Amino acid sequence: MSETVLVIGAGSGIGRALLRQLAAEGARLVVAGRRAEEMERLAADCRVRFGVEAAPESFDALDFDSHEAFIERCASRFEGGFDGVALCHGEMPDETDARADPHVARRMIDVNYTSAVSLLEAASRNLDQRRSGWIFALGSVAGDRGRPGNAIYGSTKAALATYLSGLRSKPGVVDTGMTWGLPDLPLAAAPERVARDAMRGVRRDRAVVYSPWFWAIIMRVIRWIPDRIFKRLDL
Ligand SMILES: NC(=O)c1ccc[n+]([C@@H]2O[C@H](COP(=O)([O-])OP(=O)(O)OC[C@H]3O[C@@H](n4cnc5c(N)ncnc54)[C@H](OP(=O)(O)O)[C@@H]3O)[C@@H](O)[C@H]2O)c1
Repeated sequence: MSETVLVIGAGSGIGRALLRQLAAEGARLVVAGRRAEEMERLAADCRVRFGVEAAPESFDALDFDSHEAFIERCASRFEGGFDGVALCHGEMPDETDARADPHVARRMIDVNYTSAVSLLEAASRNLDQRRSGWIFALGSVAGDRGRPGNAIYGSTKAALATYLSGLRSKPGVVDTGMTWGLPDLPLAAAPERVARDAMRGVRRDRAVVYSPWFWAIIMRVIRWIPDRIFKRLDL
């Protein structure tokens, strides 16, 4: 593979797994995340371990005014800019905390949705000039139907899914820092599995990818359940 991919939110979990997946496939990488030193370390790791070109960049999802310049910096790291963008950052604070404190709710909405739109708009303007390329962002099955346990988080993912007109991926529950310490992780997948499924979806030009695949069936059933019954279920 000779394409250049910008991985946004490469610092941990699914983003890091996706970075390694792309490095193993031979992609040239712009490794972007919040922690500058960690991005340098990760980029060096990709160069040494996989023999690919990799350049670090840092950004803060909440620093909206910096997004345009950040995307331009990323595009200037390699000749020809980037061919694809994988947006992987996000947060999921405890829903009770988010309901109790409007600042926590607002930050989650801004990190998961508003910043994603801001960054992807800047990235798509860049790709438009090239007239080619792809965009991938991590959604969630939590966005397929609202539940009391994650109403605000789910709404950020539903809004993101509506915004995305390109490729979309919907992982089920993934064993990463985001879910660390949560009780009962039913059917939890490894981030490497999600990364593999995501890139297979991108290569096959699929609009939506559920990972693992059985979440597509589970969510189809869940969407079919009438509201009056769904409200009584302890999901
Ligand atoms: N885990 C799951 O079960 C699951 C399921 C479905 C969808 N997802 C989605 O998958 C994506 C990745 O989640 P994950 O499971 O890999 O979680 P994770 O390990 O907690 O990774 C979250 C990433 O987001 C970054 N981030 C958070 N706030 C940021 C900010 N203000 N600016 C820049 N970066 C920020 C973090 O940076 P730092 O490393 O600096 O903290 C981290 O790299 C999220 O969008 C999540 O909603 C996860």
